[in-house]
Parts: sequence; C-alpha cells; structure tokens
Amino acid sequence: METAASASTSTPEGDSGQHAAAAPPRMTTVSKHYFGGASSAHNHDLRVDIIENIEEDYGMFVWPCSVILAEYVWQQRSRFTASTVVELGAGTSLPGLVAAKVGADVTLTDIAHNTEVLNNIRQVCGLNNVNCTVLGLTWGEWDEPTFDLHPDVILGADVLYDSAKFDDLFATVSFLLENSPGAMFITTYHNRSGHHLIEFLMVKWGLKCLKLLDGFSFLPSCKAASLQGNIQLVEIALDKEKPNCSSADENNL
Ligand SMILES: C[S@@+](CC[C@H](N)C(=O)[O-])C[C@H]1O[C@@H](n2cnc3c(N)ncnc32)[C@H](O)[C@@H]1O
Repeated sequence: METAASASTSTPEGDSGQHAAAAPPRMTTVSKHYFGGASSAHNHDLRVDIIENIEEDYGMFVWPCSVILAEYVWQQRSRFTASTVVELGAGTSLPGLVAAKVGADVTLTDIAHNTEVLNNIRQVCGLNNVNCTVLGLTWGEWDEPTFDLHPDVILGADVLYDSAKFDDLFATVSFLLENSPGAMFITTYHNRSGHHLIEFLMVKWGLKCLKLLDGFSFLPSCKAASLQGNIQLVEIALDKEKPNCSSADENNL
C-alpha cells in the first residue's frame, strides 16, 4: 500500500497524568477532504475531516483507495441518497462518511476486536456531524448484528491487500449480497498483478463484474497529483451463472 498525503494539521497528543513519562507521544492529525467545486479549501461543496494516526493501525490512516472511492461516492451521489450502505474494513471511513453526508443510512464496520479503530470511527462521525452505526464486523465471522444488515451498497476501500484474507472478505461480501437482493459491492484496490485474482475470486464466489474503472480516470487532478499507484474500482454483484469481468468491460462515468 502506498500512503496518502492529505493531512493538514498536526496535534501531538501526550498522555497526561501519571503515565505521561512512560507513554510515547501519539501523533494524531486531522486531514481535510474536499468534494465538489474545485475540491480545494476555498472552493468545494463538501468537506469531511478525518482523524488519523500514522503510527498506529492500518485502519487509522486514509489510504489512497479510500480517497478514490470517496470521490466516486461523491460523483455518484444520486445513487447513494436514501440508500443503505455498509462499509467493510472502513478504517478512517472516508467513503462511508461521504455517503452519509449525501443522505445514505450508513453502517461503518471494522475488525470486531479492534477497539481503537472502532472508537476512532465514532469520533470521526461526531467530528463530521453524521449519525452512522458503528459495528465490529470481522470478515468471515457471523455475529448476530451481521444478519440484520441489508445494504443496497457495500463499500470497501483497500480491503484486498492481504491474500490470506481474500476468501473471508468475499464470504462476507457474498453473504451480504445474498441477504440484500439487488445489492452491489463497490471496491477500490491496488492492481499489482493484473485483475486475474479478483476475477478468480468472483468466479469462486458466484459474483459478476458490473463496472471496472481506472481509479484515476474520474479523480480531479488536484487529488490525483498527491496519489500514486495503479488503483482500480470495481462494482460487483451476485451472478451464480456467468461471472465475467475484464478491462475490456470498462465503462465511463
Ligand atoms: C488498508 S486498511 C484500509 C482502511 C480504509 N478502508 C482506507 O482505505 O483508508 C484495511 C482495513 O481493513 C481492516 N481489516 C483487515 N482485516 C480485516 C478483517 N479480517 N475483518 C474486518 N476488517 C479487516 C483493517 O482494520 C483496516 O481498517
């Protein structure tokens, strides 16, 4: 994974009180993300603030895939208004927060035992004045609340980075798609070795590709300038019969 350079303010947080001497300082930043207009501080339609901690967990950082997926949600916002959205491996949750801002009913999820990430998601929701449900959801595990999820859209930014977890992720995605007729999974990922592995997983899990895009094809140039990598966005739905997806299927927005 490459890093996103979007932090704008920096606030060292020393642990106060009797443990101050023992605990290392924690470098927390608040990054600002702009959507619409010129996507700049002075010209935008939406701003989302994210609390990040680059010294901590993967889920405490805004990854480039998240910037791209959030921009996609913004540009496709008419699809998200009044929809039900579940974000998997949400981490700092930028795409889900944009969905909430444009009127979706959003559940933000991350590893069930990762209280630091889940607490950060709650804080970020408060910071942005959105009322999202925050849920511990570990891929491939079925706790009771998972059965109540019926999303129109499942979001996942940079959730395909550890091949050991791909089947768990796709098991959860397939379950949610079957639990929600007509639903789709929209995910962004670093395309390091071609699209073949994703194709293989779709065949295995009875899914089909609806749309495949170069992540930079719709990104405003001011955002593209600070990101790098070969990032793709794919929309996936259930298809028990004929999974099929190749770069020849690319659609324009
Ligand atoms: C690379 S980070 C991406 C975070 C965020 N989506 C972004 O793009 O900024 C991967 C995220 O997946 C979460 N994750 C990893 N394994 C998971 C699992 N087995 N179940 C649920 N979430 C998981 C991590 O906690 C982390 O938040």
